[in-house]
Amino acid sequence: MKDLFKTQDITYKREDAIKVYSDKDVASAYVAERIAKIIKHKQQIGERAIIGLATGSTPKGVYRELVRMHKDEGLSFKNVVTFNLDEYYPILPVDDQSYMSFMKSNLFNHIDIDHCHVHIPDGTLSLEGIQAYCDLYEQKIVDFGGLDIQLLGIGRTGHIGFNEPGAILESKTRLVTLNDITREDAKDDFGGKEKVPTQAITMGVQTITQAKEVILMALSQRKAEIIKLALEGEITTDIPATFLQKLRHVEYILDSEAASLLSR
Ligand code: F6R
Repeated sequence: MKDLFKTQDITYKREDAIKVYSDKDVASAYVAERIAKIIKHKQQIGERAIIGLATGSTPKGVYRELVRMHKDEGLSFKNVVTFNLDEYYPILPVDDQSYMSFMKSNLFNHIDIDHCHVHIPDGTLSLEGIQAYCDLYEQKIVDFGGLDIQLLGIGRTGHIGFNEPGAILESKTRLVTLNDITREDAKDDFGGKEKVPTQAITMGVQTITQAKEVILMALSQRKAEIIKLALEGEITTDIPATFLQKLRHVEYILDSEAASLLSR
């Protein structure tokens, strides 16, 4: 790993794209600050900030910090338009495990975002309606001028969004089948693997890589192996996160555990 050096919070960097933090909260605060800066900059120039969001355990600290900034510092989300990466299919938005419920309880219910500005794939569509809906989801992102930033976690399969192994670089928003490992990892949320939906609607790899900036976060030892493959392995559809290696505008925000297998 090149350009190894130490600062107070950041233990080392590689070409500025990889930041490793010993403290998860500091890592989350950094990401929240990056998002807040975009929102404030867009406010100053009278534009909307178009933000791509993720769910799961990883970004919870980011949302906590954004809520704190809203409450303590008056950060407004009135100019913010959000697009979430994915949603289980089928699922009702009111179900506890839906990503709609997740986003409401972790972020949207605590900030001043206009609920018309929130976009999360709809898990209630009829099968025949899904592709047209997905095409419209893509078109809406384009109509808003594209994503200013996309926040990502990473699955143990190497998925970004729910682009599981086999997803191609050119993939767009669509219905996908979830990998067995992904369903295994979600079993506690659903009270058993058999209750985890087998499908999901997800933005594609292309949708993600077209964002103006991408931040991928990985916090915990569970992610160490896949982070090594995603950042240092060959680019392959077997590990969709490796497609991010091609981007100049991607930043990896890791904790020391997730980074522990990277070569230094
Ligand atoms: C969630 C998503 C997934 C998660 C990934 C990691 O919207 O798209 O790719 O980011 O499965 O999940 P956690 O953070 O729970 O380990």
